[in-house]
Amino acid sequence: MKLKSILMAAAIMMLTSCGLFAQNTKNSKTLVMYFSWGGTTEKMAKMISSSNGGQLFKIEPTKDYPTSYTPCTEVVKEELDNGIFRQVKKAPDFSKYDTIFVGVRRIATRYLPSFRFA
Ligand SMILES: Cc1cc2nc3c(=O)[nH]c(=O)nc-3n(C[C@H](O)[C@H](O)[C@H](O)COP(=O)(O)O)c2cc1C
Repeated sequence: MKLKSILMAAAIMMLTSCGLFAQNTKNSKTLVMYFSWGGTTEKMAKMISSSNGGQLFKIEPTKDYPTSYTPCTEVVKEELDNGIFRQVKKAPDFSKYDTIFVGVRRIATRYLPSFRFA
């Protein structure tokens, strides 16, 4: 009986803290930015945005990456190795947000596309 009460209290505390977390995120100004070609990252960004009320923002580079695997990995690797950031078509107003989620597709294990927003 005592164990049951303790387990119930723990379960309530877990639910409450999850609820508070969700509520806090909802009240803050949240931006969910994503870069997606195939739609997977976009789908995840939309799931995050619908759970926390965040504003969705699609990252669109002014110049597209090559669509095939090897040329794309080479371009991304070269840009990262040389500190090159891709310009984007438009940038969000970062000052409007308290919390920013960023989703990008992973390329060649340790590389991520890099963007310049200013
Ligand atoms: C050129 C290229 C390289 C990739 N390299 C990796 C990788 O190294 N590791 C990995 O887990 N996924 C890799 N992927 C898979 C993508 O990261 C994965 O499919 C991602 O979910 C695609 O996101 P998107 O549908 O939003 O574009 C690669 C995809 C492409 C096109």
